[in-house]
Amino acid sequence: MRIELGGAFADLLNEQGKGSGDNEMGYVERTIGFRTRKLDDRDLRLVTEIVGGTTRWRRYLDHLILSLCHDESTFRNMEPLLLQILRIGFYEIVKLEMPAYAVVDENVKLAKAALRLGAGNMVNALLRKLVVLKESNSLPVPKVGGDNRQQARALAIIHSHPVWMVRRWISYIGYEEAIKLMTWNNTDPCFSIRANIGKGFTRADLVTELETLKVPYELSEHLDDFVRIRTGMQIVDPKPGESIIDCCAAPGGKTLFMASCLNGQGSICAIDINKGRLRILEETAKKHEVDHIVTTLNADLCALVNDDDMKADKVLLDAPCSGLGVLSKRAYLRWNRRSEDMEQLTNLQDALLDSASTLVKPGGVLVYSTCSIDPQENEERIAAFLLRHQEYRVDSVDKYVSSSFVTVGGFYSSNPVKHSLDGAFAARLLRSS
Ligand SMILES: C[S@@+](CC[C@H](N)C(=O)[O-])C[C@H]1O[C@@H](n2cnc3c(N)ncnc32)[C@H](O)[C@@H]1O
Repeated sequence: MRIELGGAFADLLNEQGKGSGDNEMGYVERTIGFRTRKLDDRDLRLVTEIVGGTTRWRRYLDHLILSLCHDESTFRNMEPLLLQILRIGFYEIVKLEMPAYAVVDENVKLAKAALRLGAGNMVNALLRKLVVLKESNSLPVPKVGGDNRQQARALAIIHSHPVWMVRRWISYIGYEEAIKLMTWNNTDPCFSIRANIGKGFTRADLVTELETLKVPYELSEHLDDFVRIRTGMQIVDPKPGESIIDCCAAPGGKTLFMASCLNGQGSICAIDINKGRLRILEETAKKHEVDHIVTTLNADLCALVNDDDMKADKVLLDAPCSGLGVLSKRAYLRWNRRSEDMEQLTNLQDALLDSASTLVKPGGVLVYSTCSIDPQENEERIAAFLLRHQEYRVDSVDKYVSSSFVTVGGFYSSNPVKHSLDGAFAARLLRSS
């Protein structure tokens, strides 16, 4: 409920070290009114899986719940907490295939304790109906047919995405690829770790460490220092002695990667409009002992146009974007985005690109990146930028990444369906004068 109504993040439940698990359980206690026992690691993982899963599968679960209600108004007028309990129960039975008797028992108890006896009876009735349908293999599935809009509506339910996203993808990448992309978005996300070679910690060391901790891992096929990582940031190609500006830097993943490449020589100015996120970057830079080469600036990039004291050899603009390439990791994001956001975002991306371009020294490099797979935020932004700025030209990324990530236009593009990696984009631009 905190994700849906209060904008909380599903993945914070995992960060037991920072006490977020405790925070969330504190919230349960304050709002629902009963104390939960302290969760061990296994329980926390299950809670995280259930929160992530019910968030991702919300549209599909609601379709099932609605189909089993007496009438539409029962569903539409359902109180939020009761609906949430039903989503959890439905998800546990349909997607996690947990034993039906335990799911019914637990969720009925939950509804009675958190709401009232009648709510427990309703959960009991709907979950039992669901179990019967599931056991007879007759769960209601919308039929994919009719015109484009009707097809998109059915697919949006089956794969649990907003209709506007489904329509957009069908028009950009076609029906089959759109389904593959949604399937990827619904899989468990895969996180990656970088070996800090700047501090003499190699990938072999990292692998030994992970094996000792019994953490399952996969070596990145494309980068030597990473264990499953989103590629792309090596396109800046930072070299010792260079000055770099990281324009939208917080919380700092890319700043730290670049800092480790500088071997203590050179400088990075990390700019971000968000003070809190920039503070995280400062703390991490200290922890990684690169704070002597990383300085921070809390500012709106758009206000830094043509600042003569601030010019760098290389400028990275990792722009705010829709995040449409990372929907598997950010379970809640698909429901927060609206198609109208795209225009606002692309206007901001244009403005940030214009400002960032003034911070590059003549002969320097500007890298624009997003974690989106949407052409409107990627290729189209660069095409529009090049029309406004004839002093820039594209430098193909083929010297920096393996050819399977290089587009015909010379840009970097990773795609969940093609590479089994997060979707991302980057363009490397050279400034002539
Ligand atoms: C995609 S995130 C950057 C992630 C970061 N590069 C990393 O690797 O951790 C985009 C960042 O842009 C920042 N931002 C948005 N508008 C900005 C502006 N006008 N000026 C400076 N930063 C801005 C946001 O606060 C956010 O931290």
